[in-house]
Amino acid sequence: MTLQTEWAGEAWKKITNKVKRTSARIKDGFPHASVEGVYKLELASWWTAGFWPGLLWLIYNDTKDEELRGYAESCERQLDQVILDYYRLDHDIGFMWILTSVARYKLLSAEDSKRRALLAANLLAARFNVQGGYIRAWNPWREDEDNRGWAIIDCMMNLPLLYWAAGETGDPRFKHIAVRHADTVLEHFLRPDGSVYHIVVFDPETGEKTGVESGQGYAAESGWSRGTAWAIYGMALSYRYTGDERYLDAAKRAAHFFLANLPEDRVPHWDFRLPEDVTAYRDSSAGACAACGMLLLSEQVSGSEAPLYTYGAAEILHSLYVNYGAWDSEEEGLVLHGTSHYPNGTNVDVPLIYGDYYFAEGISRLNGRQLLFW
Ligand code: GLY
Repeated sequence: MTLQTEWAGEAWKKITNKVKRTSARIKDGFPHASVEGVYKLELASWWTAGFWPGLLWLIYNDTKDEELRGYAESCERQLDQVILDYYRLDHDIGFMWILTSVARYKLLSAEDSKRRALLAANLLAARFNVQGGYIRAWNPWREDEDNRGWAIIDCMMNLPLLYWAAGETGDPRFKHIAVRHADTVLEHFLRPDGSVYHIVVFDPETGEKTGVESGQGYAAESGWSRGTAWAIYGMALSYRYTGDERYLDAAKRAAHFFLANLPEDRVPHWDFRLPEDVTAYRDSSAGACAACGMLLLSEQVSGSEAPLYTYGAAEILHSLYVNYGAWDSEEEGLVLHGTSHYPNGTNVDVPLIYGDYYFAEGISRLNGRQLLFW
C-alpha cells in the first residue's frame, strides 16, 4: 500500500460511478443496510437518514451532478416532517442535519438549509441534562422504558452541529453544551487504554453516574470498535472547534487503541475484546469512520506525529478498497462486511450506509478535498 494518490484516485472514480448507478434506484430514499445486495430503505426519522444525502453531497462537491443534488435536496426536505415528530427525535439530530442541511449550507450558502440546521441544533441543545452534563441519547423505545439518564459515545459525532451553530449565530450556549458533554465523555466514557464505554447511565435528577451498559458492544467492559471510531473522530472534531488539548489527547489515545488492535488486514472486528466462541465479524464501517478521524488528527498534530495517523488511515482505507469494495457485482453497497448491531442480531456482515459514507469521505480527503461537513 502506498499513500500516493493513484489508488485513491481510482477508488474515488469507482465510488462516483457506482453511486451514480445506485442512485437511479435509491433516488431520494433513506438506505441503511444492504441485505442480499439491495439497500433496505428506512423512514426519514431513522438515525441514518443523513448518510445517503451526505454521500451525494460529497460527490456533488466534485462533479456538480445536478441529479444527485436534486436527490440530496429532496432528502433534506423530507426531514422537515421529522423535525415536527417530537417523539421520534433523538440525539442523532446531529448526524441527520449535518449531512443534509449543514452540508448544503456549506456548499451552496442556502439560507433555508441554515435555518433548518439551526432549528435542529436547538433541539439537540434541549436534550442537555444540566445536572449530569450530558446530552440525553434517546427517548423511550418502549412505553415502560426509562432512559432519561442514558448518554452514548456516538453523540461525540453529533456535537459538531452545536459547534457549528455557535459559530453561525455567535451565541456560545451551543458550544458550552457541546464542551460540557465532551468533558463528561472524557471523565466517564474513555478508559485509560483508549477503549470506550458505549452507554453510561446517570441519575437524571442528581447527575450522578449510576452504571454502564453494553449497548452495541459485546459487553459493558469490552471494546466496541465503532464506538471507538466515534470517539476518535468526535474528539478530533471537538479539538478542532475548541483547541482544547485534552480532546486531542483523547482522540490520540482512542486512535492508538484502535490501531493496536487491528487484525492483519487493518479492518476491525466489530468488537476488539471478543471471547473465542463469538464470531468475530468485521465492522468495515468502524474502520472507515476511524480512518476519517485519523486523517483529521494527522492535520492537527505536530509534523513528526502525523505519519502514524495518515498511514494508519490510508492503510485502513486501502484495505477497504481492495479487500472489501463491491466494485464488480450487482451489490448496491460500496463496502462489504459492516456490522450494525451484533447483540440484537440486526444487519450483521452487510454493507452499511455509514460505512459507505465514511469510506467516500476518507477517499475524497486522500484525494485532497478539504471540505468537512462536520
Ligand atoms: N449510532 C448507532 C450506531 O453506531 O450503530
